[in-house]
Amino acid sequence: MAAMVSTYLTPSSKPSAAASPPQFAGLRRSLSTSHSFFHSVNSHTLRSSNRPTRGIVAMAGSGKFFVGGNWKCNGTKDSIKQLVSDLNSATLEPDVDVVVGPPFVYIDQVKNSLTDRIEIAAQNSWIGKGGAFTGEISAEQLKDIGCKWVILGHSERRHVIGEDDQFIGKKAAYALGQDLGVIACIGELLEEREAGKTWDNIVIAYEPVWAIGTGKVASPEQAQEVHVAVRDWLAKNVSAEVASKTRIIYGGSVNAGNSADLAKKEDIDGFLVGGASLKGSDFATIINSVTAKKVAA
Ligand code: PGA
Repeated sequence: MAAMVSTYLTPSSKPSAAASPPQFAGLRRSLSTSHSFFHSVNSHTLRSSNRPTRGIVAMAGSGKFFVGGNWKCNGTKDSIKQLVSDLNSATLEPDVDVVVGPPFVYIDQVKNSLTDRIEIAAQNSWIGKGGAFTGEISAEQLKDIGCKWVILGHSERRHVIGEDDQFIGKKAAYALGQDLGVIACIGELLEEREAGKTWDNIVIAYEPVWAIGTGKVASPEQAQEVHVAVRDWLAKNVSAEVASKTRIIYGGSVNAGNSADLAKKEDIDGFLVGGASLKGSDFATIINSVTAKKVAA
């Protein structure tokens, strides 16, 4: 499948998440021949109360539960030593893929001290092979240092740094070509571009911008609504197999107190966690919320 995720996020209004659903601008495909994701998500939203509910199963997809911790630009050698030690001693459910994303400068420290049970993601990568690109880090260098993943398209990089779809798309294509897994963040829109890559190494993180770092988590129903639309879009526009195996994870104010309720939703295949991933015990609780999924099944 010639596909790669590139993402585009429109700022939504700043709703109170609990009170009103986000204004989904929708998810669309860039190719004119494709089915409009924009339309797809909106029609999902509109018909949600009438559409037949899926059977009560806790996991619609076939992919393993996935929890990523995005440490963003946080930490010192000492605080990260403590966090790693807390994670190393935490009891984690076995059937969860766990990934943490330290700042570049601490990746080596984390790689050398963190249990192999947890894989490492970078928070960004360059669009191509390294060279005369001051301040950038290449996918090859990330692999060299032991990273298995890279987070791309995060809304902070779009809105604060100004990265656009095309740029992020190039990064994702290059990283996938280097066998890095890509955690591709989407807000409200998704475009698919030709890249000659498979979907095998892509995890899609749905992160409504109004929920990131705000303490306003999407309700399980709001998140499920979008996740099912993403999965249905994958089924229609890529394949049923890809729709089933692609992990669609939720990010935005996930914490130890709300993760279990979110995890119960059948199309929520895990989480991308910011603030709460900086506390080992809270992050472990979020990882272990996979048990809520099992109970719900
Ligand atoms: P948050 O961040 O959990 O602090 O809201 C989520 C993210 O940006 O991935």
